[in-house]
Amino acid sequence: MPQNAARPESAQGKVPAHVAIIMDGNGRWAQQRGLPRLEGHRRGVETVRTVTNAARELGVRMLTLYAFSVENWNRPPAEVGGLMRLLEFYLKQELKTFVQDRVRLRTIGRTDELPAGVQRQLRRTITETAGFTDYTLVLALNYGSRTEVVDAARAYAAAVAAGEEKLNDSSWATFSRYLGTADLPDPDLIIRTSGETRLSNFLLLQGAYAELVFTPVLWPDFTRDDLAAACAEYARRERRYGRTTEQVRAPVHPASK
Ligand code: IPE
Ligand code: IPE
Ligand code: MG
Repeated sequence: MPQNAARPESAQGKVPAHVAIIMDGNGRWAQQRGLPRLEGHRRGVETVRTVTNAARELGVRMLTLYAFSVENWNRPPAEVGGLMRLLEFYLKQELKTFVQDRVRLRTIGRTDELPAGVQRQLRRTITETAGFTDYTLVLALNYGSRTEVVDAARAYAAAVAAGEEKLNDSSWATFSRYLGTADLPDPDLIIRTSGETRLSNFLLLQGAYAELVFTPVLWPDFTRDDLAAACAEYARRERRYGRTTEQVRAPVHPASK
């Protein structure tokens, strides 16, 4: 291939800075083995550990994991309770590792509706890891895009009423400051495991231009190689943001912007 052969400039060879994952398939993984669904969630936590490390080693700067949706409260109470206990246990166990590996923990979602023990553990971990800047793990907990937008609209309206924002100046840049993700970059890559090809209320606005990768692998079986494969797929994509391929591939001249 000749040197400088035209190649899409945007994603070629690049590592996605922000990867977001819809971790799905724990229940089916367990059911296939005749085990209770909660056993699938337990194995899913192991995958969280593996993938948190693997993403950092691949050069990813931010990893967002969809761990519990606002709709997941509709599951049987025993499963919801089990998930909450598992979450608290995971947070307690991981704190040392987060500090050792310099992982900053963040959350998105209505965490004030989570059990008190989970909230306490979250506050503790977030405080103790707040100073780390190289790698951030964002847990989406009691998260849903529609809820997030309603909360943001309410806060925005209050700011307008208080004279802190001008309605006429409204733009995505101003409004998005009221979302839970205000200080987080948009995801570059969204992965969903388990063969389902839907977003289930996850980062619907922030993912407007995310690349989507769907894999049939169930979350407990998802490996670092699967993550690397998804990142490789991302690197082959051309991100055009509404432009043409020719524009994307052309050298950028400030005058042509
Ligand atoms: C994802 O696995 C974990 C959560 C939603 C908490 P599921 O529990 O949805 O697994 P399936 O989809 O039933 O297999
Ligand atoms: C999405 O998975 C939520 C999380 C992964 C936390 P679900 O399994 O709840 O999604 P649906 O209901 O199949 O769309
Ligand atoms: Mg599911």
